[in-house]
Amino acid sequence: MENSTIFSGEFNFHSTNKDLMFQYNLDTKTAIVLINRPKQLNALNRDLIESLSNFLNQLEKNKKIRSIIISGVGNKSFVAGADIKEFKKFNKEESLHLSSLGKEQLFNKITHFSKPVIAAINGYALGGGLELALACHIRVASENAKLGLPECSLGLIPGYSGTQKLPQIISKNIAMEMILTSKIIDAQKSLQLGLVNYTVPLNELSTKALEIASLCNAISPESARAAIKAINSCYSQNGEEIETEEFSKLFETSNFKEGVSAFLEKRQPNFN
Ligand code: CAA
Repeated sequence: MENSTIFSGEFNFHSTNKDLMFQYNLDTKTAIVLINRPKQLNALNRDLIESLSNFLNQLEKNKKIRSIIISGVGNKSFVAGADIKEFKKFNKEESLHLSSLGKEQLFNKITHFSKPVIAAINGYALGGGLELALACHIRVASENAKLGLPECSLGLIPGYSGTQKLPQIISKNIAMEMILTSKIIDAQKSLQLGLVNYTVPLNELSTKALEIASLCNAISPESARAAIKAINSCYSQNGEEIETEEFSKLFETSNFKEGVSAFLEKRQPNFN
């Protein structure tokens, strides 16, 4: 089961990195991207971060793709963190580079991606793996998932925005406890805390993630982009202005006209 995927259908390997697999079906408008290092519990190394970053750039440009699902190969792990073997001998400069480049290339890119990104958490989401899930816009976890930021137990702290995002998504109080105790929590507790949106049995994870994606695919793509931008500004001082600006810009889109016409004509909108 190590190499199996929870998603059905054929997957392609990324052209330059076999540790990344993808599938997209232009009918469903969703791209599924899988981290493929099951023997290392899908730990993220620098090559993977770079390939995933480049692949996301392509998906962002492809107008037929409306949403992305990120998951891991196998039934044990989403991503068990940054690759500890890779950074074990890093010095201060190298680790500074690892954290800042990782954020720039991948984690911030996902947070600010113009299309909804859904994490389908199929097992361990630890350290950089939970930070990857936290960067996604919506999280759904299988019942066997285990989530945590155990970096302090390695003599580190989270380096891919975990100290910033976890307190925003759950609470500062619980984030403090999770990070300071390196505690790993199960899917049920994650749901209770609001860390994930849903938990489902492992064999229903792909269906649930695709169902969420299909709802996201039905909205106007400009609304998706604007909503992500405005919601991401909710903790910044100019969040209200950003919301107003994004709201008003949408009045100039053909999809706004289509949405309103469809409502008045009592039919489903056909956004493009
Ligand atoms: N990096 C590199 N390799 C990893 C890894 C990681 N984060 N997590 C697991 N692996 C490797 C293991 O070394 C092992 O490889 P070998 O067979 O070559 O020894 C293989 O994956 C299987 O792992 P285990 O034998 O440990 O599996 P297990 O079922 O006994 O334990 C686990 C599972 C509890 C997830 C355990 O692997 C673990 O604790 N992993 C590390 C989790 C962690 O600390 N993550 C944070 C990383 S630091 C980080 O992410 C920094 C940051 O914010 C930037």
